[in-house]
Formats: sequence, structure tokens, C-alpha cells
Amino acid sequence: MGADSGYPSDDPRRPLNVLLVEDNPDDVRLLRRALVRDRVEDIHLVHVARLSDALLRLAKDRLDAVLLDLSLPDSTGLDTLRQLRAMAGELPIVVLTGHTDEALGLRSLHEGAQDYLVKGQADGRLLDRGLRYAIERHHVQRQGRLLLEEQAARAAAVEALRARDEFLSVAAHELYTPITSLKLSAESLLADLSGGGPADPGHPADAGPRPVQRQLQIIERQTERLERLVKNLLEVSRIHVGHFELMPERVDLAALVHDVAAALGPQLARSSSTLTVHGDPSLWGTWDPGRLEQVVINLLSNAIKYGAGRPIEITFGGDADSATLVVSDRGIGIAQEMQERIFERFERAVPSRSFGGLGLGLYVVQRIVLAHGGTIELESQHGQGATFTVRLPRSGPSAAVVPFEPEQSELGQDA
Ligand SMILES: Nc1ncnc2c1ncn2[C@@H]1O[C@H](COP(=O)(O)OP(=O)(O)OP(=O)(O)O)[C@@H](O)[C@H]1O
Ligand SMILES: [Mg+2]
Repeated sequence: MGADSGYPSDDPRRPLNVLLVEDNPDDVRLLRRALVRDRVEDIHLVHVARLSDALLRLAKDRLDAVLLDLSLPDSTGLDTLRQLRAMAGELPIVVLTGHTDEALGLRSLHEGAQDYLVKGQADGRLLDRGLRYAIERHHVQRQGRLLLEEQAARAAAVEALRARDEFLSVAAHELYTPITSLKLSAESLLADLSGGGPADPGHPADAGPRPVQRQLQIIERQTERLERLVKNLLEVSRIHVGHFELMPERVDLAALVHDVAAALGPQLARSSSTLTVHGDPSLWGTWDPGRLEQVVINLLSNAIKYGAGRPIEITFGGDADSATLVVSDRGIGIAQEMQERIFERFERAVPSRSFGGLGLGLYVVQRIVLAHGGTIELESQHGQGATFTVRLPRSGPSAAVVPFEPEQSELGQDA
């Protein structure tokens, strides 16, 4: 828009281009005469009589300020000011009022006018001073606003750095725990194989070597844990650089759920929760199998982790158009006020010293579901368990679904 004056405050006598919006020819004449009489030569008035013409001029001309009568043929009262304000960008507006409606002038200050002048009282010098004062004040206000915006941006950047540091420390901890366990198991296996006895001080030598199978199970479990963490991390980074692409094919959701349930069997057994799976023998649709598996893994791992050892149920079914998957536990539940936030990156409703995790699982789940054109809902009460319901169109993701615009923020910025 050509409206912004960019008025330099160090040039107080710069000639001004002022848009005069006034439908009364007598008032226009009076104003022009006052300027001539008082030898104000550096104000150039561009006159229009209608708001519609004023709006056109705003878009076209390079202006320094607007002098605005509020009663025009095509608009009256403060509405005139609001419409002009909406189009005028940073341009200062000085309202012209009659001497009987000075109250309107005062109210116009609340609607974004920089000043008001009472018609007839405006001699040329007063008009000149009023306009320059309005422009200067506007300039100062703008500088103040820019300064505040800059401070807010700086604070956001500092917060983003803090969030990133915190994330790095949590992520390092989460990755280090399985690595420590892997290392111990490998050392123990090596010691067993070379007949040197267990290297684990928690396992006394006279108890005999640990069965190789048990060590391998630990290695498998910790590798799977690492795999899950890294997969979620990879998915988040793909989403954020805009490289998240689905690879849909014909998938049987029923078989996929049973496979995931079997894979998480050992984790489930350690939690002492039982898992019941109900559903049609098969449930076909066009989905990205790897991503769908991630959805089920994340939801089921959460149910196990936060399920307090109580029973877990997975139910699935569908009609001609869509498939529904419900994962339900009777564990610690989620307080109402946290229920929206836990779908955001890094958001967790539990302390990390009680439950490990990066706070990425549900974020990834939701993104995958949305990318398929589906929905995810949560029903939960604190202390009463949680039920996550995923609905997916069976026809798969439509081309119209584009929830993966790369986000401007980097890792941690909007955490
Ligand atoms: N079934 C559930 N019951 C209770 N709370 C849950 C459940 N599922 C998720 N939550 C809450 O939502 C938060 C976010 O879950 P999310 O899966 O995104 O992260 P996480 O489990 O903490 O870590 P990870 O990234 O390793 O999955 C959890 O920290 C927990 O507070
Ligand atoms: Mg999780």
C-alpha cells in the first residue's frame, strides 16, 4: 500500500501530502483559505468527497496523513473512521468534527485517530501544527511498538533456546538409559562367553552366569525402545522440514494391531496389565502401514506406561467409509486442562522423574492421523484412565489433505 508516510522525525518542515476527505465544499474552501491566509505553503491537500474515493487514494498515493470528516455521503460516524483505519495502515488520521460534536472527536481517539480538530476553529497554523504533531506522535508510538515487538521477539528467541536446551537434556537422558542397559548386557554376554562370570555387580558370581537368552532379550528390548524414540524424533524432524510424505497401500488394520500387540508383549508383561483386542477379523483400508504402526505403537505404549498395571483394551471396527480404532486404559488418566496440550510437541502431563518419555508420541500420532484425513479424540478423567479414538477414512489420504506445511519454528521454538 502506498499509504505509509515513513515521516522522518528529524525533518520537521518536510512538505506534507495530506488527503482531505470532506464532502462539504464550504468546509474545503475554508480550510484551503486558512492555509493560504496563514502562509502555510508546505501542506498539499488532496481532496476527495467520498469514503470510497478516499480508500482508492490510500492505495495509490504516497500520503503523510488524512484529514477526515466523519459524515460522508457513503459512510457516517465512527464507522467512517473504522473503515479508513482498517485500510490506512500506519498512516496518521486527524478527524474533523463540528463544534457541537466534540465528544465524537474524543471517541475517535479510541478508534485509532491520532487527533481531532474542530472545524472553523482550525486556522492554518493550528492545522499545520496539529498535523505535524499527529504525524510525529504516530511516529513515536510506532517506534515504541516496534521496540516492544523486538523485545517480545528476543524473549521468544531466548525461550526457544531454553526449551531446546531442556529438550536436549531430556532427549540425551532418554537415549542414554537404554544405551547403558545395552552396554551392560553386552559386557555380561562377553564375560559369560569368555567364562569370566558376569560383569554385573547386581548379579553375584556364585549365582552362576546369566542365561544368554535373557541378556539377548534385554538387548532386543532396549534396541526396540531406542528405535521407538528415534523413529518419533525422525518423524518430528520430517514434519518440520516439510519432508513428511505418506506412502499409502492396502493395509489390514486388524492384522497390524495384532502384530503390534505381539511385539509389545514383553513390555506389556512387565507392566502386569492385560490386553484384550476386539475387532473384525480383517479391516482393510488404504493407509501408510509404517505410519499406522507408529500410531498403534505410540497409543499402546502410552496405555502400558500410564495404565497403572490395569487392563487395557483395543477395539477396532468400521463401516464402508471409515475405520475406528479405540485404545483404552484404566490408568492415571489426564486432567481436563492438559488434554489439548498433550498433543503438542514436548508437552507432558507427568513429571519425567516418574515416567520416561520425550512428549513426542501423541504429537506424531496426531500428525499421522490428520495426514490420512482422519481424527483423534481423547476421553479421560484424572485417575480414571484414558480412551483414545482414532477414525480414518478407508479410502486413504486425499490429495486435498495438506497438514504438513513446514513450520517456521525450529525444534523447541513453540514448545
Ligand atoms: N494413556 C494415557 N494415560 C495417561 N496419560 C497419558 C496417556 N497417554 C499420554 N498421556 C500423557 O500425555 C503426555 C504426552 O504423551 P506422549 O506419548 O506424546 O509423550 P510421552 O509418552 O511422555 O513420551 P514419548 O515421546 O516417549 O511417547 C504424556 O507425557 C502423559 O502425560
Ligand atoms: Mg508416549
